[in-house]
Amino acid sequence: MKAAVLNAIPGVLEIEDIDVGEPGPREVLVRTVAAGLCHSDLHFMEGKYPYPCPAVLGHESAGIVEAVGSMVRYVKPGDHVITCLSAFCGHCSQCTDGHLSLCENKDTELVRQPGEGNRLSRGGDPVNQFLHLSSFAEFMLVHEQTVVKIDNEMPLDKAALIGCGVTTGMGAVFRTAKVSAGDTVAVIGCGGIGLSAIQGARIAGANKVIAVDMVASKLQLAQSLGATHVVNAADTDPIQAVLDLTGGGVHYSFEAVGLKQTAEQAFGMLRRGGQATVIGMIPVGTKVEIHGVEFLYEKKLTGSNMGSNQFRTDMPRFVEMYFDGRLKLDEMLWQTIALEDINEGFAEMKKGAVARSVIAF
Ligand SMILES: NC(=O)c1ccc[n+]([C@@H]2O[C@H](COP(=O)([O-])OP(=O)(O)OC[C@H]3O[C@@H](n4cnc5c(N)ncnc54)[C@H](O)[C@@H]3O)[C@@H](O)[C@H]2O)c1
Ligand SMILES: [Zn+2]
Ligand SMILES: [Zn+2]
Repeated sequence: MKAAVLNAIPGVLEIEDIDVGEPGPREVLVRTVAAGLCHSDLHFMEGKYPYPCPAVLGHESAGIVEAVGSMVRYVKPGDHVITCLSAFCGHCSQCTDGHLSLCENKDTELVRQPGEGNRLSRGGDPVNQFLHLSSFAEFMLVHEQTVVKIDNEMPLDKAALIGCGVTTGMGAVFRTAKVSAGDTVAVIGCGGIGLSAIQGARIAGANKVIAVDMVASKLQLAQSLGATHVVNAADTDPIQAVLDLTGGGVHYSFEAVGLKQTAEQAFGMLRRGGQATVIGMIPVGTKVEIHGVEFLYEKKLTGSNMGSNQFRTDMPRFVEMYFDGRLKLDEMLWQTIALEDINEGFAEMKKGAVARSVIAF
């Protein structure tokens, strides 16, 4: 099958022919229909995060079940599914506490064991699966606990966006921060993740939703998706602007860029008692600095992994929100591209030029 392989870090993706295995007892073979480009893939390509090469990247996808292993009862061939990298074992203390996205066993139990062969290979040599999924390929061979069944009426290109960006951004609002009606919110970074957080804040009933970006077209889109105010950080200090707009700071801020500077800005724009949630992937080794005295004002700084999701509950709900018109996905999907155009897609992402690009298989 055709797949986009990362052979060296830093590096670009190479379209190659690789082999995919047969489903083991608890595995599902999914025919990939759509896969979104997320900035996290780019962080790995650029070496901001380590990963063993060669690997097939991609982790925001939707498709149709092609075959299932002997013990799989949850899905059957023909079912439409969204994938989620938050593979969950279901029995560790995090899973049983309801924090499925923090599963402690995902990287030991939900991968192939020694002697079971490789899910992906090239000329007999193993190719690493990326974050349990490897979506930039015509097929995904995954553990059953990385997929959620959805309504077959849901367009799969829009469904793919739910696989990471929407769940991460909306989940950060609903599950990590638990924004309530009337709260004030600021979101720094209006890519797929930040725009989803903005939509989440609107749906949660936030009073002011302030979008911060450095690209005017992104701020325009943010407004159409629910931002009540916009701040262009290219020419305006976002902290001062948010303090002015809110008379002293927001209840909740979300960082959706992945930089030390923007994480510190997110903390700096809080009112007393406010909470900053860092969603962006800050490069390994980078420290975030804040003034300790701020804790006297009960300000909080936290992270969010994949929107603290329980994806088999959350994703079908997001599909319903798309159907009823509250979750706007057509507006976020800026372009559909071929697998062969994947490097150009990431180059455009780097410029901040697109909201989301999706590969159609
Ligand atoms: N925590 C998680 O589980 C999780 C999941 C998915 C993605 N992420 C991370 O979230 C971040 C955003 O991902 P994305 O796919 O939306 O990226 P993206 O590239 O699509 O969007 C980033 C946006 O930030 C803007 N930006 C860049 N520098 C800025 C600055 N200094 N101030 C304000 N805006 C700025 C860009 O113009 C762009 O619109 C990435 O770091 C990604 O790795 C984290
Ligand atoms: Zn992602
Ligand atoms: Zn677990």
